[in-house]
Amino acid sequence: MIAILVAISKNNVIGKNNQLPWHYKKDLQYFKELTLNQTVLMGRKTYDSILSSLGKPLPKRRNVVASRTLDSLDGADVISDINTFIQSFPKDQNLFIIGGKQIFDETLPLADYLYITHIDEEYEGDTYFSAYKKGDYQKIKETVDGVLRFAVYKKVN
Ligand SMILES: NC(=O)c1ccc[n+]([C@@H]2O[C@H](COP(=O)([O-])OP(=O)(O)OC[C@H]3O[C@@H](n4cnc5c(N)ncnc54)[C@H](OP(=O)(O)O)[C@@H]3O)[C@@H](O)[C@H]2O)c1
Repeated sequence: MIAILVAISKNNVIGKNNQLPWHYKKDLQYFKELTLNQTVLMGRKTYDSILSSLGKPLPKRRNVVASRTLDSLDGADVISDINTFIQSFPKDQNLFIIGGKQIFDETLPLADYLYITHIDEEYEGDTYFSAYKKGDYQKIKETVDGVLRFAVYKKVN
């Protein structure tokens, strides 16, 4: 399974100053439950953001970082060709694409599933989730918890 995993505010914000503009414990738990022991793919800027908040790559997950400027990293695999990586990713394993905007934009056509945490609040930000064709996806799961709505969409077209 190739899945995009993202949290999006009511006004489509996903980031500010290379960080998440919010802190929702429930969303962090959800992220952890889904990605633990799986492979996570991220852009170099999102990797920097994780390093600055955690001090290390995401634990107990295979961290894969897309970069055209880095050759290698401690505790993470570096790739320079996202398409080849995704196309050759084992079909019986789960790949979660965890951001940021550049990586979401480039991988959206390759993802079978969108795991979107819709946040029913507006936030100021500088990075937005790009518009996508909602008709290309069917909602297969949804759980509401306060201002958070955890939805899963499957690509149908
Ligand atoms: N709300 C959410 O769920 C969520 C999740 C993740 C991130 N975010 C937010 O998103 C923002 C970061 O997004 P962003 O778009 O600025 O950066 P990004 O997508 O995380 O990283 C961009 C970097 O990825 C590398 N890259 C991009 N395309 C590539 C390709 N085709 N091949 C190889 N490398 C490639 C480049 O690294 P080099 O410059 O090293 O070449 C590029 O500078 C932050 O604010 C972050 O907090 C939000």
